[in-house]
Amino acid sequence: MKISIYKPNNADEIEQLFIKTFSDSEGRSEGEAIGSLVRDFMDNTDANDLYCFIATEHEQIIGGVFFTKMIFESGINAFILSPMATLTDHQGKGVGQKLINFGLKTLKEDGVELAITYGDPNFYSKVGFGVVTEKVVPTPLTLSYPEGWLSQSLISNEIEPIAGKSYCVKELNKPELW
Ligand SMILES: CC(C)(COP(=O)(O)OP(=O)(O)OC[C@H]1O[C@@H](n2cnc3c(N)ncnc32)[C@H](O)[C@@H]1OP(=O)(O)O)[C@@H](O)C(=O)NCCC(=O)NCCS
Repeated sequence: MKISIYKPNNADEIEQLFIKTFSDSEGRSEGEAIGSLVRDFMDNTDANDLYCFIATEHEQIIGGVFFTKMIFESGINAFILSPMATLTDHQGKGVGQKLINFGLKTLKEDGVELAITYGDPNFYSKVGFGVVTEKVVPTPLTLSYPEGWLSQSLISNEIEPIAGKSYCVKELNKPELW
């Protein structure tokens, strides 16, 4: 299995990976919604505000993870991981954790100070994320599942509370995604 940075000619296969994986786990309409989100990222998000890493095995893309820029009034350099997917038949074999660890290492090398995600604390705690409150890391929109607001510093052992507001890229700026 190889982890690499995605190339624009991978876009159709990546879109299908997210549609398939989320349709399997959460039903067709969620699969289509997440497929549109990742297509929107790949077509419209500024390249400086987007990272996408893919896992490939025998020429097939079996996993993918997106990170997009978050703006904080405090100026901290931050990205949010969302969404990610490993093809159903390949889950539970470490692909997801390898993708995230590769992504976090690359972000850190590029000077990113804070990584954020929004999801299952049991899974994301395996790769260094911990639950944070909105007082520590302000949320760009109102969360329907505050227990899933997770973060990790890429430059120190703890996260200093961040003052002021936060903003996500416009492709994520939709209440139904939060
Ligand atoms: C969440 C997801 C990306 C994880 O990817 P993955 O490649 O299965 O992740 P890993 O194999 O690295 O780790 C999965 C962990 O969950 C646990 N797990 C247990 N049963 C599992 C199962 N049937 N499938 C996946 N993970 C399982 C494992 O214990 C593993 O941890 P461990 O290595 O410490 O034992 C993947 O399950 C997925 O695509 N799910 C559907 C879409 C989704 O929910 N995406 C996340 C929200 S954006």
